[in-house]
Amino acid sequence: MKVLGIETSCDETAAAVVSDEAPFIRGNIVLSQIEEHRPYGGIVPEIAARAHLDHLDRVIALALAEAGIGFAELSAVAATGGPGLIGGVIVGVMEGKAIAFARKLSFIAVNHLEGHALSVRLVAEVPFPYLLLLVSGGHCQLVIVEAVGRYRRLGTTVDDAAGEAFDKGAKLLGLGYPGGPVIERAAATGNPTRIKLPHPMAGRAGCDFSFSGLKTALRLAVERRAADGALSREDTADLAAALQDAIVASLADRTERGIARFRAEHPRGRTLVAAGGVAANTTLRHRLAALALGSGLDFVAPPAALCTDNGAIIGWAGIERLRLGLTDPLDFAPRPRWPLDPNAARAAGAGLKA
Ligand code: KG4
Ligand code: ZN
Repeated sequence: MKVLGIETSCDETAAAVVSDEAPFIRGNIVLSQIEEHRPYGGIVPEIAARAHLDHLDRVIALALAEAGIGFAELSAVAATGGPGLIGGVIVGVMEGKAIAFARKLSFIAVNHLEGHALSVRLVAEVPFPYLLLLVSGGHCQLVIVEAVGRYRRLGTTVDDAAGEAFDKGAKLLGLGYPGGPVIERAAATGNPTRIKLPHPMAGRAGCDFSFSGLKTALRLAVERRAADGALSREDTADLAAALQDAIVASLADRTERGIARFRAEHPRGRTLVAAGGVAANTTLRHRLAALALGSGLDFVAPPAALCTDNGAIIGWAGIERLRLGLTDPLDFAPRPRWPLDPNAARAAGAGLKA
């Protein structure tokens, strides 16, 4: 079984060929649009959609060439059907449907969050159920992954996602975009304890997240230090280290509570998993590994290149769905919002991110 995975929900134009037999990833091409968005300090949805349109054909052709196969050898096409920037999602879904129609293949609309949620099973044999910390640019959730298509959300962010906290922090520190990698690099030379920043939600009941207060605290700290000129190199590094420390401490605190609930509900559950772009962060990975060890769980996270957006995780979710006979009709409508756990989204009401 070979599935073409297409990912266009944010600022990566990506396609991959994934197999249900090792080696699972046969071709994997990720074209980043970072340079196109850099002048604006963030992603411009219209520019993203146009860039996907310009490059997707070529990216798919390259993924097939890397896999050494043609369309005829595919079993199905899986495309991110949401949630995400709708212009880009439409481009990927239209392309996926067109290929499926022309080549008489099954079509699978993959929830982008499900792509991240199942990504770990592409690299390790992780059994259900597992506790997942899903941390990306648009999402920050603790989820119990019970089975393919069965997700129970324990907590989500009440304002910004963890990736946004890195991205907005980097902008405040004048470090550029995207924030995660540049903060991580700057933090490596900084002292995380010299400048104090709050650890959001630490010690609070429940598993929800919040990062907007941290952003304000960072802005005030920057303004205090930059009052008489630009930030010194040392201040920038120390602030980056303090920011990373605060985000990681907050994520770890929330995850610890998630572990307690996971253990109570699934005494035989064995694994803590991290996925999404922020899970590429080394300090976070170390902290979560220590947390898991202390709780008698295994910690598994995909390699960094599979944490950030790519087509392989979408193709893999396609394989997991195809095995269960879960395909979608060609009139599937792209979704700007698409919660993994619809019950949790309803319970939380408006105001919370899906
Ligand atoms: O999963 P992803 O590629 O896209 C979304 O689905 O949102 O995640 C992108 C996010 C960005 O906010 C980026 O700053 C963050 O992941 N990120 C990181 C690192 N690499 C990417 N955050 C912290 N440390 C990193 N090394
Ligand atoms: Zn993502």
